Amino acid sequence: METKILKVDEESLALARQIIRGGGLVAMPTETVYGLGADGTDGEAVKKIYAVKGRPSDNPLIAHVHKDYDIEKLVYVEQDYAWKLKKAFMPGPLTMVFYSKGVISPVATCGGDTLAVRIPSHEGAQAFLKAVDVPVVAPSANVSKHVSPVTAQHVYDDLNGKIPLILDGGKCSGGIESTVLDVTEKVPRILRAGLVTREMIASVAGDCVYAEHKETDKVRSPGVKYGHYMPRAETARFTAEEKVAAFAYFDEAKKSGRKPVLLCETSLKEEIGERNVIFLGEDAREMASNLFYDLRAAEKTSDLIVVIEPRGTGGVYDGVMNRLTKAAKKCNG
Ligand code: TXA
Ligand code: MG
Repeated sequence: METKILKVDEESLALARQIIRGGGLVAMPTETVYGLGADGTDGEAVKKIYAVKGRPSDNPLIAHVHKDYDIEKLVYVEQDYAWKLKKAFMPGPLTMVFYSKGVISPVATCGGDTLAVRIPSHEGAQAFLKAVDVPVVAPSANVSKHVSPVTAQHVYDDLNGKIPLILDGGKCSGGIESTVLDVTEKVPRILRAGLVTREMIASVAGDCVYAEHKETDKVRSPGVKYGHYMPRAETARFTAEEKVAAFAYFDEAKKSGRKPVLLCETSLKEEIGERNVIFLGEDAREMASNLFYDLRAAEKTSDLIVVIEPRGTGGVYDGVMNRLTKAAKKCNG
């Protein structure tokens, strides 16, 4: 199958509509990462997403709708704070998990009684969702376990020949996936950290907690139990305090003939010297925005990625650290 990359315009949107309405897949830009979309009401179409990605069949998908869509067609909104959160953060990088009304195929919800709903703010995503005029279920448009894509080219690198159309909406500004928030109970619970932070949610909803994942727990967000965001090159992660050990690790690898690259915050510039480096940025938002882009750049040019964690904590750093801990194995120097 030929995979077309087309800028979002009237013509490509008409084609996207035809493909989605015909039970096919279209990759779409969002403000977080690129998504791989199908008509959420069409179980056969949704199955193609799992097949193309190689995604475990017990990991449910997020339903994406445009900003004028009535989400009560899809879910029961039982908590008042959920409406406040919707008003404050949607459209945007927040996904809320509600009890489902069953309109979306059980293939997408993995037979569960809940549905994750997201209203992306990206103009291209809004135009696409309006054009197709059905709820679109979409995971990140990468091969399962690989780093999420933040450009149309990244999607192409993973899915060339497997899908007919990638809508090109430029580089995603957010850079990490949406915050996934369980809003079925009295206190909202973060299942996956992201750009809408615990602090931001608590300021609107009164309270907000992180879901604790214990071995014995029934998994609430199945995605968290799988390998994720793994670059094609070996990766090693050091804390900010272990930076000297990270430099030594890098130097040792270089000496043995490997092609290592450091990935760290820009403030370490002076200490890096001549070492090959990709700077993630100055603050958490910048680092989130660059993280997947930089990991994909690093895996192309290097055979060892040495990550030094940022020093900051809380806010968007929680989302950045969540991705880093999955992308890179902890190394003890
Ligand atoms: O920013 C994003 O959220 C991107 C863009 C494309 O919208 N999408 C994305 O989808 O990251 P995916 O499939 O890669 O991650 C969805 C996460 C997974 O961890 C999944 O387990 C969780 O959301 N999830 C989906 N439906 C759920 C549900 N009903 N209950 C709990 N967790 C759910
Ligand atoms: Mg994903």
